Amino acid sequence: MPRTPDYFNGKTIVITGAASGIGRATALIFAREGANVVCADVNEDGVKDTAEKVNEIGSQSLALSIDVTSRAAVNNMIELTLNGFGRVDFLFNSAGAAIRRSKFLEIDDELIEKTFDLNFKGTFYAMQAVLPHMLKNKAGVIVNVASMAVKRGGPNTSVHYAAAKGAVNSMTLGVAREFAKDGIRCLSISPGPINTAFAKAAASSPELIKRFLEDIPMGRFGEPEEIGELVLFMCSDACKFMTADTVYVNGGGGWR
Ligand code: NAI
Repeated sequence: MPRTPDYFNGKTIVITGAASGIGRATALIFAREGANVVCADVNEDGVKDTAEKVNEIGSQSLALSIDVTSRAAVNNMIELTLNGFGRVDFLFNSAGAAIRRSKFLEIDDELIEKTFDLNFKGTFYAMQAVLPHMLKNKAGVIVNVASMAVKRGGPNTSVHYAAAKGAVNSMTLGVAREFAKDGIRCLSISPGPINTAFAKAAASSPELIKRFLEDIPMGRFGEPEEIGELVLFMCSDACKFMTADTVYVNGGGGWR
């Protein structure tokens, strides 16, 4: 929660992956706080739906159908935001996926490239697009999404994904430190299993769900809103000394 009650009123957040899951939940939480929400996603219908829900809550929105793996599209996303709202205060990079599961020796060039394009380069492009503007304002917060997989390495199924998310955390650290004196903060969140389409794809059988749950002392998956509230806290003025680190949100588990 912000220290200043109306802190988010009229401020603008750009959210990638806003059509679904964590991105959508975060969009609605920022709408609740009165922020303008730019909803960006490759899923056109989903992103329009999120933007409508933002409006229903009473905040302004912009729905952008973009693929974060295209630098031009990501640059355009920031330009359209500036045309629409005049400034960008926060960027939340939630677009991401494991693409598909694979044993390490079966990860081919196409899978590793697609995984890094989406999870790493998409985040990299968005940060490069927004930072010049944040530098001009001498203010801004960027929140990226990694995964508990960075602690486990994704053996047997997703080393490609864990490595891409590890790169996201390293980049977050570097950007935070490079721009710390410019009024810009950069953080990441490394979630354990969260109830979204992503987790449903990973926990695809009752046995797999049981294995996931046995590993979480709280005995449940997280909810996307629980990540969204953390994004809100990170972007707020409640703890402005916080930058560079990742925060693990996992019900105490996910270390198997
Ligand atoms: P989700 O599948 O509900 O949402 C991901 C969104 O990203 C979708 O709306 C999808 O259309 C969008 N997207 C995919 N490729 C895109 C592209 N090229 N350009 C623009 N948008 C694109 O999944 P969820 O759970 O909300 O995932 C959000 C983030 O959280 C991802 O980065 C994921 O890797 C990460 N994560 C999720 C966990 C979970 O258990 N749900 C655990 C750890 C990390």
